[in-house]
Amino acid sequence: MIQPADFQFIAQLLKQRSGLALTPDKEYLLETRLQPIARQLGCASLAELVAMLRRSPGDEALLRDVTEAMTTNESMFFRDTKPFEQLRDLVIPRVRQAKASGKMRVWSAACSNGQEPYSISMTLLEQRLAMGGLGWEILATDLDTQVLAKAQEGVYTQFEVQRGTPITLLVKYFSQIGNNQWRIKDEVRGGISYRVHNLIQPCNGFGKFDVVFCRNVLIYFDEETKRGVLNRLADALEPHGVLFLGAAETVLSLTDRFRPVQDQRGVFELRT
Ligand SMILES: C[S@@+](CC[C@H](N)C(=O)[O-])C[C@H]1O[C@@H](n2cnc3c(N)ncnc32)[C@H](O)[C@@H]1O
Repeated sequence: MIQPADFQFIAQLLKQRSGLALTPDKEYLLETRLQPIARQLGCASLAELVAMLRRSPGDEALLRDVTEAMTTNESMFFRDTKPFEQLRDLVIPRVRQAKASGKMRVWSAACSNGQEPYSISMTLLEQRLAMGGLGWEILATDLDTQVLAKAQEGVYTQFEVQRGTPITLLVKYFSQIGNNQWRIKDEVRGGISYRVHNLIQPCNGFGKFDVVFCRNVLIYFDEETKRGVLNRLADALEPHGVLFLGAAETVLSLTDRFRPVQDQRGVFELRT
């Protein structure tokens, strides 16, 4: 059992560093996620780990490990299917209408282990003809350095690829590199760049995007943090740009910068 003061200390630290809102019902999560770090550091209990954190507020590596341990990195290829159909059927024509040439700029803003940016890349590769003269580039960012490293490596288990990837795309865009492992092909990696980025901080220097995927991360934030993130994403979008949120997420009652795109669940556009 963690003491209330220690729980409060960790909750505050996580809120400050990642925006994660840790409510008291998530005490079990804190215990299961932080016990391995405590053990690794030779702490006999979570209380000892918290004491260590209190003693060394400038220990960036420790703070990062604790923050990263508390993020939920669950993802899968073509998660929810629909957003990738909407990218194909709604977004490509929309961006082509706004931009005849140049590049469609896509941001996967909490990309986890890379399944999302690779699914975007495969969708665009499949739509090469529909893209006409338009090229593309994908920026994939996450707060968590470990998931970003896995994303960049582009190697997945059989279970991970099978969960969402249609068999035709699996055969076309992955190479089997062992009994149980698949590597994403260079063709799919091309055009994707990776950067560490914390959504609670400004995204200066990224330029403007035609499409932002920010899916299944707002759910972990409180309202004020969600509002701040959404307003920063609005600043990062081209006037014709669209924002994809996760199935359980919305902009409604958080910001008036966005409105839902009519008849397109999960897709939002800037209010003009
Ligand atoms: C559940 S995953 C979602 C992955 C993917 N977007 C999807 O929908 O499948 C949430 C991701 O958000 C990241 N994350 C959490 N807080 C963040 C923050 N403040 N800034 C950037 N990324 C964050 C986590 O590290 C994690 O990889």
